[in-house]
Amino acid sequence: MPYISDTPSETSIDSTHDVQEERRRLHHDAEVVIVGAGVLGSALAVALADQGRSVILLEKSLKEPDRIVGELLQPGGVEALRKLGLRHCLDDIDAVTVKGYGVFFYGSPVEIPYPANAVEQLESQQHEKSNGTTTRAEGRSFHHGRFISKLRAAALSHPNVTVVETEVTEPIIAQSELTQRIIGVQTLTKKVQKDYFFGALTIVADGYNSKFRKTYSSATPVSKSKFWGLELQHESCPLPMPMHGHVILSDTAPILLYQIGSHETRALVDIPENTPSASLAQGGVKSHLHKVVLPTLPEQVRATFADAIERGQLRSMPNSCLPATINRTPGLALLGDALNMRHPLTGGGMTVALNDVVLLQSLLDPAIVPDLDNTQLVLKQFKSFHWQRKNLTAVINILAQALYSLFAANDPQMKYLQKGCFRYFQLGGNCIDGPVGLLAGIIRQPFVLFYHFFAVAFLSIWVMLCEQGVLSALTGWSAVQGVLIFYKACLVLLPYIWAEVKS
Ligand SMILES: Cc1cc2nc3c(=O)[nH]c(=O)nc-3n(C[C@H](O)[C@H](O)[C@H](O)COP(=O)(O)OP(=O)(O)OC[C@H]3O[C@@H](n4cnc5c(N)ncnc54)[C@H](O)[C@@H]3O)c2cc1C
Ligand SMILES: *[C@@H]1O[C@H](CO)[C@@H](O)[C@H](O)[C@H]1NC(C)=O
Repeated sequence: MPYISDTPSETSIDSTHDVQEERRRLHHDAEVVIVGAGVLGSALAVALADQGRSVILLEKSLKEPDRIVGELLQPGGVEALRKLGLRHCLDDIDAVTVKGYGVFFYGSPVEIPYPANAVEQLESQQHEKSNGTTTRAEGRSFHHGRFISKLRAAALSHPNVTVVETEVTEPIIAQSELTQRIIGVQTLTKKVQKDYFFGALTIVADGYNSKFRKTYSSATPVSKSKFWGLELQHESCPLPMPMHGHVILSDTAPILLYQIGSHETRALVDIPENTPSASLAQGGVKSHLHKVVLPTLPEQVRATFADAIERGQLRSMPNSCLPATINRTPGLALLGDALNMRHPLTGGGMTVALNDVVLLQSLLDPAIVPDLDNTQLVLKQFKSFHWQRKNLTAVINILAQALYSLFAANDPQMKYLQKGCFRYFQLGGNCIDGPVGLLAGIIRQPFVLFYHFFAVAFLSIWVMLCEQGVLSALTGWSAVQGVLIFYKACLVLLPYIWAEVKS
């Protein structure tokens, strides 16, 4: 006999559910209000809604974004999506499998595949049970907008999320004698109509240029360079290492090339502030791309790259660095790029954002925080969040900043460090598995980063000694050089370690 379930408890769950939906739609009232349906906001909306929370997600434009950011997701980000039940957002968007990196140093290539058994490593670091299979880690690259649209679709179809297209203008503050607390936000819909949305917790995930950061965080982003993006026709310039992110290193700042769809390849060219060859007097960015960048690219890419410059579809984005701070505002928290940024050279932003969602989902689990109105408990959980996320984010942030300062620099000691770094990769084995595991968001142990960094520094000194020969070693000149190289290595690394430790 079929068992027909019509118990009162089930009907009551269904009806609270309807009541909540109605509260969101009619009264604009939810447990969580999220500002910004980007990578972080959309994923977090689904993650919290899956736990039964009532969520309102506010986005100023639900049109598919067309941007040059967030196009390569590291394996550690793919894994986070899987944990969130959102892995399907990478399907049907014409995404390209990424198996690792190809680094080209003054034209010589070295292949750096993502490590084997990566997923097991990650599981054992997080004390999860392994399923016993060995998998080589994979990332994905894609059109940013298509991925965002899939994430938003997941939020839109979730029964516990209401998505509203509206621009958030300011927070709503509830003031009592002793305390101040954020209880929601004011918005502007279709540029004319004022709206109000209320939630026990307001999450601000409005991206790199966050409007709310100034008020609720003591940190300010620093940007010393821009990435200039070009889109290349893939068929006319197949990359030397298919299914790999390409990093081109030479006398200019780093250049990235990676396929983002079956027919498109992205080129991102870093141009530091005040680069003389990109100044207006010298013909601007276009002329810099032609004269300085083009000759450093792999042969088969040059003609298409030159075409793309001529077609003039150049777009740029500032590359920012922003250390995270602890959220201390009752009722409000900054997340995503609004909270924390690092140079995009290593493609780490979305991996950080998605792993933050995984961590926050566990810290705000209704079993631990039944009522988000308990602001003291919520603030305590955000403090734990700040420290617990560091194992991963410190690695990704420090690596991104250190690699960028290393490869964008041009003095003699830095040149030896660059050479040493490349030689280190050429050694293969653990000398690539370690660094790429860190970059991929798989290895989450900061000491592994320090170990490899100083191994590179010593190898650089060795490279210098070999080049300068025994004679100069006897004069002591090499010893001075060696000390200088080591000193420079510290200058590259220590400020970023300090930035992670002090905040
Ligand atoms: C040049 C460049 C290249 C990058 N490449 C990569 C890469 O390859 N891989 C990678 O992992 N990361 C990359 N990143 C970083 C990555 O793009 C970000 O870390 C990621 O997009 C952050 O997600 P977010 O949700 O915090 O912000 P966003 O994705 O920017 O989302 C913010 C959302 O908030 C909305 N919004 C803003 N203001 C309001 C408002 N007032 N009201 C309502 N809605 C609002 C916006 O419309 C947007 O949808 C790159 C960054 C740069 C600059
Ligand atoms: C939505 O929330 C309810 C509780 O209000 C929960 O029982 C249900 O599982 C949630 N739905 C989904 C699809 O997660």
